[in-house]
Amino acid sequence: MAKTHLKMTVNGQEVETLAEPRELLIHVLRERLGIKGPHIGCETSHCGACTVDMDGKSVKSCTVFAAQAEGADITTVEGLGDPDNLHVLQEMFREHHGLQCGFCTPGMIIRAHRLLLENPNPSEEDVRFGMAGNLCRCTGYQNIVKAILAAAAEMNAAKEAAQ
Ligand code: FES
Repeated sequence: MAKTHLKMTVNGQEVETLAEPRELLIHVLRERLGIKGPHIGCETSHCGACTVDMDGKSVKSCTVFAAQAEGADITTVEGLGDPDNLHVLQEMFREHHGLQCGFCTPGMIIRAHRLLLENPNPSEEDVRFGMAGNLCRCTGYQNIVKAILAAAAEMNAAKEAAQ
């Protein structure tokens, strides 16, 4: 099948690739661009393992055609921090044991990042509601919620200190 030329920004870098019209964004990210943070779980828009940020919204990249991401600005978990310089959300997931097998973690963290941008002072209920599209098969939700609330507190304290 003829391939389409695609251009998008991923984690701050302009990237170009070829993809078939039927290809999903998750496959282009992982297989064509080598970005393995977003995982493939259900491929039916239920689990959230494939969550990425696209033009300021959390999307499940298994239900977005790569062609729909033409010109988009995409952030994956790799765009938040790296092993030597963790994002506060990554740090709090580690500190509060917000990961068990780790499979859902990249989707959880990138979704939590958007949630905290939209609501920097969430209640526990807000976090649970905002994260409802991301499933953890280890069912470790308690510590995931704790980690997100702790990250919100850290980020707010840093903002206050900077004022
Ligand atoms: Fe996309 Fe499960 S792999 S929601």
